[in-house]
Amino acid sequence: MDQATFIEQYATNRANTNSLKWDALDERYGNPNLIAMWVADMEFKVPEQVTAALTQRVAHGIYGYSYTPDSYYQAFMNWEQARHGLTLQKDWIRFGSGVVNSLYALVNTYTQPGDGVLILTPVYYPFFNAIQDNHRQLVTSELHNDQGHYTIDFEDVEAKIKANEVRLFIQCSPHNPVGRIWTPEEETKLLALCEQYDVLVVSDEIHQDIEIDREQHPFVSALSIANGRFADRVIVLNAPSKTFNLACLLNSHVIIPNEMLRAQYDAKINRLSQTEVNVLGQTAGQAAYEYGAEWLDHILAIVRDNYHYLKSQLAEHAPKITIADLQGTYLTWLDLRAYVQPEATRQFIQDQCGLAVDYGEWFSAADQGFVRLNLATDPKYVHKAVDNIVTCIAQASR
Ligand SMILES: Cc1ncc(COP(=O)(O)O)c(C=O)c1O
Repeated sequence: MDQATFIEQYATNRANTNSLKWDALDERYGNPNLIAMWVADMEFKVPEQVTAALTQRVAHGIYGYSYTPDSYYQAFMNWEQARHGLTLQKDWIRFGSGVVNSLYALVNTYTQPGDGVLILTPVYYPFFNAIQDNHRQLVTSELHNDQGHYTIDFEDVEAKIKANEVRLFIQCSPHNPVGRIWTPEEETKLLALCEQYDVLVVSDEIHQDIEIDREQHPFVSALSIANGRFADRVIVLNAPSKTFNLACLLNSHVIIPNEMLRAQYDAKINRLSQTEVNVLGQTAGQAAYEYGAEWLDHILAIVRDNYHYLKSQLAEHAPKITIADLQGTYLTWLDLRAYVQPEATRQFIQDQCGLAVDYGEWFSAADQGFVRLNLATDPKYVHKAVDNIVTCIAQASR
């Protein structure tokens, strides 16, 4: 199927479907008519085999207590093996109703109030909440930004771990919002530091499958780094939700290879809640892992084209906007500060350009003046958004 046909078949108008991204614009941004480029989900219907599997399950008409069949584990484990060369074992896998929920549970399981928890900023804002809402000590190390190419300041990471007796590091891999896929060398250095100072690692790998250029920048799970040398201190969170646009079917994974850590997690979770699995989430997830690879490749091509369009247009018409390298995730991170005063960003993006975006300061107080745009969408929205930005910058410079 060519890309135009794919878009025609799968791209969908989401207004009036209780979509947080589109139908909450008035409530969240005070204007229902913005182009919604914020929340990280897509304007594309799921693979048709997923719809077929859900339809069949719904036709059965019973939603009693469910359990996870072997076929689900097999589909998920096959996907990890085929797509990322990651070999998992069934007994490492637990289920959650969302990665953020699990993040809260893990902070509670493995740290005590007051313990230091490290994150690399700017980063997905619920990381801050999971630490601070649980009264842990927030420890941040700022990524180094060289004209949109972000790297880890390892000296600072080590200094922060030492100074704050950090117990837990929550990493985002690939990294939302700066779009990096960490290289095996970077990951090895980072995980070796965690090993040296006995820091546990929670690796949020929800964006694992959104690889913009798999040849150049392949994703490698923290569990595979250095042939699994660090797997005993790593817990991975992932899900089919970002990959296949299934966020509200509330089905995610907690992967814990270390037996002792797994026992601790099980004990804690059993005290906190009786978790059941979401039968529709798992029906959809299994079909997606079994049949969704080709659909995903179309989505990745669209994201890639949207990114190149945005990059080339802005390079030509607004060359002082810095665009972060997009290696992983479908979220692009723009620095508007060369044209717009940081405190005027909202007025510029919302009132002038007509866009609903995620603002830089949500990801780090230091990043006012940056915006994050979601590119997993119909190219027509990206074209309009870029046009609006270019026009408004031209007007402001006159
Ligand atoms: C890095 C990261 N983790 C977690 C989530 C949300 O996961 P969930 O909906 O499973 O809580 C997102 C969504 O944007 C994300 O970007």
